[in-house]
Amino acid sequence: MKKAFLIIVAILILIQFIRPERTNPSVDPAEALQAPEEVVTILRRSCYDCHSNETKWPWYSNIAPMSWSIASHVREGRKALNFSRYRTIDPKIKAKRLKRMIKTTRNGMMPLPSYLWLHKDAKLSPEEKQTIEAWAESELQKLQP
Ligand code: HEC
Repeated sequence: MKKAFLIIVAILILIQFIRPERTNPSVDPAEALQAPEEVVTILRRSCYDCHSNETKWPWYSNIAPMSWSIASHVREGRKALNFSRYRTIDPKIKAKRLKRMIKTTRNGMMPLPSYLWLHKDAKLSPEEKQTIEAWAESELQKLQP
């Protein structure tokens, strides 16, 4: 028993040396999202930790194995949709993401449910979902040729 415990502790210590990249690349205001205040407020609160270069890395993102999962969410999230580079996104891809934004916020896929465990305030109210949806629809209109 004691030996097993010591082995687990040793493994937990050793994995701390495998550190994922946790960076916030600089933001160029000319590339970043510009939207009405109420929209930006919601997105900043509920989406920016994974979908921008302004991630607020929590203290537990320093500790493996949580650090691995958080860093991978941020990496994948930024790859899928990065509001810090919103104005540089190709219009065709942007249209797809905006449509997915409406779907995924409606059906509760976004923000990621696991994120909401420790970020209760990030949960979207029905009104906030509507605000995001209306904004995304207006963005889609702008993208029509
Ligand atoms: C905890 C991290 C996290 C948060 C917070 C988060 N997302 Fe995501 N999001 C991801 C990851 C990871 C992916 C890419 C993998 C996937 O598609 O599931 C993603 C993908 C997406 C996509 C592309 C999906 C597709 O199928 O094309 C959209 C759109 C999106 N998120 C919107 C949002 C919006 C809007 C919010 C805020 C209301 C949000 N996300 C909050 C992690 C997050």
